[in-house]
Amino acid sequence: MANIIKVQKGTKDILPDEMPLWHKMEENARKIFSNAGYNEIRTPVFEATELFSRGVGDTTDIVNKEMYTFEKSERSLTLRPENTAGVVRAFIENGMHRLSAPVKLWYKGPMFRYERPQAGRQRQFHQVGVEMFGIKDPSADAEVIQLAAAYLNSLGLNDLEVEINSLGCPECREEFKNKLKTVLKPHFNLLCEDCQKRYEKNPLRLLDCKVGSCKEIFDKPEIKEVIQGDFICDECREHFELLKQYLAALDIKYSVNKLLVRGLDYYNRTVFEIKSNNLGSQNAVCGGGRYDSLVKNLGGEDTPAIGFAMGMERLYSLMEPVNAEKLDVYIVSDNKAETLKLVKYLRENNKSVDFDFNSKKFTKQMEKASKIANYAVILGEDEISSGTVSVKNLSTSQQITISRAELISSI
Ligand code: HAM
Repeated sequence: MANIIKVQKGTKDILPDEMPLWHKMEENARKIFSNAGYNEIRTPVFEATELFSRGVGDTTDIVNKEMYTFEKSERSLTLRPENTAGVVRAFIENGMHRLSAPVKLWYKGPMFRYERPQAGRQRQFHQVGVEMFGIKDPSADAEVIQLAAAYLNSLGLNDLEVEINSLGCPECREEFKNKLKTVLKPHFNLLCEDCQKRYEKNPLRLLDCKVGSCKEIFDKPEIKEVIQGDFICDECREHFELLKQYLAALDIKYSVNKLLVRGLDYYNRTVFEIKSNNLGSQNAVCGGGRYDSLVKNLGGEDTPAIGFAMGMERLYSLMEPVNAEKLDVYIVSDNKAETLKLVKYLRENNKSVDFDFNSKKFTKQMEKASKIANYAVILGEDEISSGTVSVKNLSTSQQITISRAELISSI
C-alpha cells in the first residue's frame, strides 16, 4: 500500500462537523463589524519579506524566528505572519488616505508562524481582525476595544479579561528604555540569551519574557519601581486617562498591566489584550493596539491607526458547540427518476434537500431523514401514480398527503 501523507505539524484540517462554529465566527464578524462601519478587505497570503521586517520589526520573534520565507524569481517572499502590515500596504497602495477618515477595515484569514506547536498555538492559524485609520483621539481606542468585546459577546464569550497598557510615544519611551537598561545592567549576565539580545535592540520586550530567572530579576524592588513607574509624557498620559474614562463609560471592565508590551514593534500608546482563564498558557484570544507611525514608516502619509486581531482557533475552543442546521427535506423513495425530479424542483425553490443514492430500505431512509432533516417527503408508488407526496413532520411525527403544488408552501 502506498504511504499515507499526513497533515503538516502545526496545521489542521477544519472538518465539516466543525463548520457550524466557524460559520458563526465568520457571520457574526461580517454582521457586527459592518454594523460599526467596517468594510471587509482581503489581501494576499504572501507579501514581500521586507513588508514584515520593516512593518512588524526585525527585532521581533515573529520576524527573526517564525517567518515562512521563500524565494521566487530572485524575490524574497513571506507567508503573512499577521495581517496589519498587509492591510497597511493595501491602504497606502490604494490611496485610501484620500477617503474621509476614519477608514475602517476588517478581515479574516489564515496566518503562518513557524512556532513550536502546542495547545492553542499552530503554525497555520486563522485571525479575524479590524484596523481603523485616521483617528488620533482616544475615543477610537475605546470604540475598537468595545467592538472586540461586542464580537466576543456575540459568540457567547463573556468570561474574559481585558488588559490595557500605554507604551507612550517614541520620545517618552526612549527615556524609559534608558532607565530600564540602567537598572538591568548589573543583572545582564543572568538574563536569558534572548533577553541579552533584546537588551540593546529593544529593551521593552524584556518585560514579557516568560523565563523564570528573568521574571525573578524583574521582581527586584529597584527594577519593579522603574517598570511600575509612570514614565509616559503628559500628552500620552492624557490619552490613556481619557481611554480609561471612556471604557468606564462603556462599562468595560479592564485592568492595567504594565508588563503588557506586545510582540510586534509597531505599537505606540494604547496596547491591549483580551485573555481567557480557560485556555492554558496560550490564553490571549485578542491582541491589538495603536500604531500611529506604521503607515508613514511603510511609505504612506502620516496616518494614525489602531486595530486588533483574534485567534479563531482559540475562539473556537471556548465556544459552546452548536448543532448543524438540518435540511428542509429528505426524500424517502425507491424511484430514482421521480426522486431526482423532485430534488431539482425543491432546490429550484430554495429548499435544502437530499436523498438516498443507494435505494436502502424504507426504514433505513426514514432513520436517516429523522437525523438530518425537518421533513421526510415520501414518494411511494401510490404518491407517484396520484401526483401527490406524503410529508412527515419529523419533530411532531404528523403526516399529511398533499399535491405537489402544495409542497413548497407546507414545508
Ligand atoms: P498577535 O497578538 O500577534 O497580534 O495575534 C493576535 C491573536 O492571534 C492572538 O491573541 C492569538 O489569539 C492569535 N494567535 C497568534 N499566534 C497564534 C498561533 N501561532 N496559533 C494560534 N493563534 C495565534 C497581531 O497579529 C496584530 N496584527 C494584531 C493587531 C491588529 N494589532 C493592531 N491591529
